[in-house]
Amino acid sequence: MGGPRDGWLLPLGLLQLLGGAGAAACPCREPRLCRPVTGTGGPEVFVFDVGKNAWKSYDWSKITTVAAFGKYDPELMCHAHSKGARVVLKGDVPLKEIVDPAKRTAWISQQVDLAKKQYMDGINIDIEQEVNETSPEYYALTELVKETTDAFHREIPGSQVTFDVAWSPACIDKRCYNYTGIADACDFLFVMSYDEQSQIWTDCVAKANAPYLQTLIGYEEYITMGIDPKKLVMGVPWYGYDYVCLNLSEDHVCSLSKIPFRGAPCSDAAGRQVPYGAIMKQVNSSISGVLWNEVQKSPFYEYKDSLGQFHQVWFDDPRSISLKAAYVKNRGLRGIGMWNGNSLDYSREAAAEQQTEAMWQALTLYWETNIKQ
Ligand SMILES: *[C@@H]1O[C@H](CO)[C@@H](O)[C@H](O)[C@H]1NC(C)=O
Ligand SMILES: *[C@@H]1O[C@H](CO)[C@@H](O)[C@H](O)[C@H]1NC(C)=O
Ligand SMILES: *[C@@H]1O[C@H](CO)[C@@H](O)[C@H](O)[C@H]1NC(C)=O
Ligand SMILES: *[C@@H]1O[C@H](CO)[C@@H](O)[C@H](O)[C@H]1NC(C)=O
Repeated sequence: MGGPRDGWLLPLGLLQLLGGAGAAACPCREPRLCRPVTGTGGPEVFVFDVGKNAWKSYDWSKITTVAAFGKYDPELMCHAHSKGARVVLKGDVPLKEIVDPAKRTAWISQQVDLAKKQYMDGINIDIEQEVNETSPEYYALTELVKETTDAFHREIPGSQVTFDVAWSPACIDKRCYNYTGIADACDFLFVMSYDEQSQIWTDCVAKANAPYLQTLIGYEEYITMGIDPKKLVMGVPWYGYDYVCLNLSEDHVCSLSKIPFRGAPCSDAAGRQVPYGAIMKQVNSSISGVLWNEVQKSPFYEYKDSLGQFHQVWFDDPRSISLKAAYVKNRGLRGIGMWNGNSLDYSREAAAEQQTEAMWQALTLYWETNIKQ
């Protein structure tokens, strides 16, 4: 792991010296590691990384793409390239600013320049803004994706352009996009099959972050619209939600205070996101231990905080993830990925190591064995 043998050479000071205008000198041990990675054509394992050093502990035997959402880290780029994995930029822009075609073109050429300068292999467009159907932003967004893909494919041969969408195309969180147009325009969609309780219209009670059936319904909706399953990568959560219960019943119904979100009266904004690593540290001291909800096919547990309030925590673990991963395989989706790679406990402690390995394994278990549902 890490260190000069993995392709890292120049100290940061020297890098900055060389990094002025135009293409920076290749920061990797070998110049070939600065060449764009063009992928294998096999299934995707798409990892969001949010910075710092967790990437040094990732299971690189599985990763095909890292979306670098943290600070630019040339060491990560060199390492990913040495493992044949792509590294892609994060793309986000206020939609009002790209309705004008000239401003759109300027934004795109900025992204392409940045990608070239940092030896990146594409871009992941993560625009989660509200858009009304047939508004100027609606059309501009589809054009943005089309033009970004054209520019990247032309300027960086073999590069990858992807777009993040909600768990369902049904205007979730008021994101009414031209989903078929966007899917056609890029290499694939990363479907964020999590935060599925961002808009709760029924009982205001704690539920799974990514219930099994609700997750699958989202994909069936995308596919029914005419989107090729090979244009869909399933995003699974490596985090859960910790909810304070107004009341917790004996049959595990945790009622929530009503926090509205984008028009819905109740939402997961009543909870707090917690990474899987932290969840696994807490679960043994909970009052319930790990429980399993058979309807949502999700684990959860309950605990009492120092103020005497009850909490219910819903999360995903290797069991719930491998069920969804089996669907990825059986439905012929492009692959799988997670938000986010940093969320596990990468310490050398034996229990943590075991849990971390199981989470990475769950992603691709379905390629190695044939899980029957
Ligand atoms: C969408 O339309 C509604 C109703 O016309 C309007 O109130 C809202 O501001 C619009 N949202 C956006 C993001 O344009
Ligand atoms: C979606 O985008 C495609 C490609 O630009 C276009 O042909 C189609 O008409 C658009 N659909 C809607 C409903 O706007
Ligand atoms: C609150 O929880 C208690 C204990 O399980 C239960 O007896 C009671 O019916 C619940 N109250 C409401 C309003 O749900
Ligand atoms: C929690 O308990 C399980 C089962 O008893 C054990 O395997 C695991 O190591 C424990 N986890 C921690 C963090 O202590």
